[in-house]
Amino acid sequence: MAFSRFNVNGIDKPTCTLELVGIFWWFLFLLYRKAYIPALILFIAHKLVILRTMLLYIHIPFCDSKCSYCAFNSYVDKFHLKEKYMSALFVQLKHELKRFDATKESIETIFIGGGTPSTVAPELYKEIFTHLKPYLKKDIEITSEANPNSATYEWLEGMYGLGVNRISFGVQSFNEKKLKLLNRAHSPQMAIDAINNAKTIGFENLSLDLIYATLGDTKELIQYDIDTAV
Ligand SMILES: C[S@@+](CC[C@H](N)C(=O)[O-])C[C@H]1O[C@@H](n2cnc3c(N)ncnc32)[C@H](O)[C@@H]1O
Ligand code: SF4
Repeated sequence: MAFSRFNVNGIDKPTCTLELVGIFWWFLFLLYRKAYIPALILFIAHKLVILRTMLLYIHIPFCDSKCSYCAFNSYVDKFHLKEKYMSALFVQLKHELKRFDATKESIETIFIGGGTPSTVAPELYKEIFTHLKPYLKKDIEITSEANPNSATYEWLEGMYGLGVNRISFGVQSFNEKKLKLLNRAHSPQMAIDAINNAKTIGFENLSLDLIYATLGDTKELIQYDIDTAV
């Protein structure tokens, strides 16, 4: 689990805009020594935005199978630790909220990644989400990664009920042979079913991961995967 004042991909949008405007005013200030008041205001605003912006990443290190290409921190033989792991996450969450001085509605996004978040039942996330509720911004985006074989209708429905509003499906390919080569634990049809189930449940924001440049890839195969995804 990690809290961040910054986006995983770099600085987040509001911070970045302020940063650029701030740099511009500092530049004017250094050049003419006249623009120090706007520069100061922007500097303080920038610091305030950074201090108030919180992004939360929750890592779930369990997988049904280890894909041949993946070096992420995940285990296929530690399912017996699920309950203990989720309880430990809850303890860490309370500690981190204090450490980061989290205030009401200060968390802008949550990303549950892995490993495979869909290997953990929604009930085991409940304690975490209940505790987080007062800290969440009204229009928060809550994403969970999910694998088609474990993102069952019940799992998706349960996570939707907890407030997850975006699913990032690890599809990788709609080609059976390629999925086998990658050691994925699902078929193309399972991916299609999981996506349709998510839509039926009410998820409006879905993303699909596809992987390319693997052994045996052809332009046609990649085009097929993209066309099927779209
Ligand atoms: C680490 S997985 C976690 C989510 C889920 N378990 C899944 O398989 O989609 C997130 C994404 O990282 C991608 N990934 C993992 N290892 C990769 C690698 N070596 N190169 C490119 N993508 C990779 C996976 O294909 C997956 O779509
Ligand atoms: S299921 Fe996802 S996290 Fe697990 S080994 Fe495969 S790519 Fe990595």
